[in-house]
Amino acid sequence: MAASIATVRTVKELRAEVAKWRKAGETVALVPTMGALHAGHLSLIGIAKNHATRIVASIFVNPAQFGPKEDFKRYPRDEAGDLAKLAQAGVDLVYIPHTAEMYPRGFATKVTLPSLTEDLCGAARPNHFEGVATVVTKLLLQCAPDVAVFGEKDYQQLLVIKQVVHDLNIPVQIVPGSIVREEDGLALSSRNGYLSAAERKTAPILHQVLSEAAAALANGEGCDAVTSAGRFKLEGKGFRVDYVAVRDPETLAPLFGPIKGPARVMGAAYLGTTRLIDNVPTAPKNR
Ligand code: PAJ
Repeated sequence: MAASIATVRTVKELRAEVAKWRKAGETVALVPTMGALHAGHLSLIGIAKNHATRIVASIFVNPAQFGPKEDFKRYPRDEAGDLAKLAQAGVDLVYIPHTAEMYPRGFATKVTLPSLTEDLCGAARPNHFEGVATVVTKLLLQCAPDVAVFGEKDYQQLLVIKQVVHDLNIPVQIVPGSIVREEDGLALSSRNGYLSAAERKTAPILHQVLSEAAAALANGEGCDAVTSAGRFKLEGKGFRVDYVAVRDPETLAPLFGPIKGPARVMGAAYLGTTRLIDNVPTAPKNR
């Protein structure tokens, strides 16, 4: 029989459970998700366990972070499957708020940070990061965990969340989790299921191209040369490229010429109607 798992749907119930643990001297980690869970999400649970004695996972498909023409309605939802995976992974409590719990009538506050969110994914998805920043702020304040874990798969999102936590003095430690991939290199994503069989075969090329760019940068090639070459290769394989970029890993500032220190190679591209994102770290080789 599948293991059962405790679920709560309101802020009040969530806080009551967390308060019990606090009283017993336990520590709490939160892993926010939009469900349709895969091994990437579950790796974050594993990391959370190294940082706290109690683990809360949240499942909330946040309407505020989807554009009007995006996939909110068709975003994969599998609550029963997700709960089974979270139980198996050893999560203590799953928070699954209804939209009306998160955004009650009259809800009016938004968390915005223009500097980090206007380019890369923010350019193609206006208001996306405002939606993410607002809901993550709420999740952190609702649960009040010691630690919250976010994947590097959404690298810009991770930096946005770190900035919000710093700026708003939210007392939580943000812990990053590295990207979990398929054997062929494709980063796991709840959206990979949208890919046709032919697109699925092409999809790992995004990671290959970013990895090649990272290697070329490490060997002293310039940022412009490697991003142009990467874009060209992707377009040749049938991707519609949104961006290939080399950025400062802490600030996301654009880098130019040969890199002098650590950098992040980031890419976003469409296969058909599916938007894939990925990123890889790099640093200049010591010579
Ligand atoms: P979602 O896409 O469900 O992702 C939840 C968390 O899992 C994020 O921190 C994401 O970076 C991480 N993740 C996704 N794929 C991963 C992979 N292949 N390897 C490692 N980590 C991976 O990101 C969101 O939801 C939402 O924006 C959210 C933060 C929950 C706010 O609504």
